Amino acid sequence: MENKLLQQIKALVKDDLPLVSNLSNAAAVLANYENINWCGFYLVEGGSLYLGPFQGEPACTIIAKGRGVCGKAFEEKKTQIVKNVKKFKGHIACSTLSRSEIVVPIISGGEVKAVIDVDAPVINRFDDKDKEILEEIAGFLAKLFIEGGVKEHHNQEEKDNPVAAIEKLKEDYDL
Ligand code: SME
Repeated sequence: MENKLLQQIKALVKDDLPLVSNLSNAAAVLANYENINWCGFYLVEGGSLYLGPFQGEPACTIIAKGRGVCGKAFEEKKTQIVKNVKKFKGHIACSTLSRSEIVVPIISGGEVKAVIDVDAPVINRFDDKDKEILEEIAGFLAKLFIEGGVKEHHNQEEKDNPVAAIEKLKEDYDL
């Protein structure tokens, strides 16, 4: 099965845009995941995770390495699937709605740069298929952390008519 979410993210993400712009649109695509209540990014800065672009309820802003599911994915550099958050020791309950979750690290140059966190309001929502889909997305987004800084946005046509640009993408990629 093709990874439609990855196709949509590839269509929206551009290497001449700031990281926050790219991750914001990526979070909007991840929100199409069925039966979830929260999705977004935590970004590594100074050895901790900080809240990045997301969709859902307001969330915890700082997560220490090793704490909660996100901190564990950061520390172990490995995807974490938690079937029942109530049974996960040290789970950080940002939303009372969350029952299960998956956290996937975004790794560049051998270092975790960010994590993708998706939470569901039902137990046992995520499986190996979701792991595969989200790890592919994480692999693609990892490139955003290699290139330093923002380049000049050269697309004058898009600057002149930003609505036409996003409308075309929405039509082409069923967004
Ligand atoms: N569930 C996470 C905390 C972040 S929120 O769910 C948005 C955790 O335990 O790492």
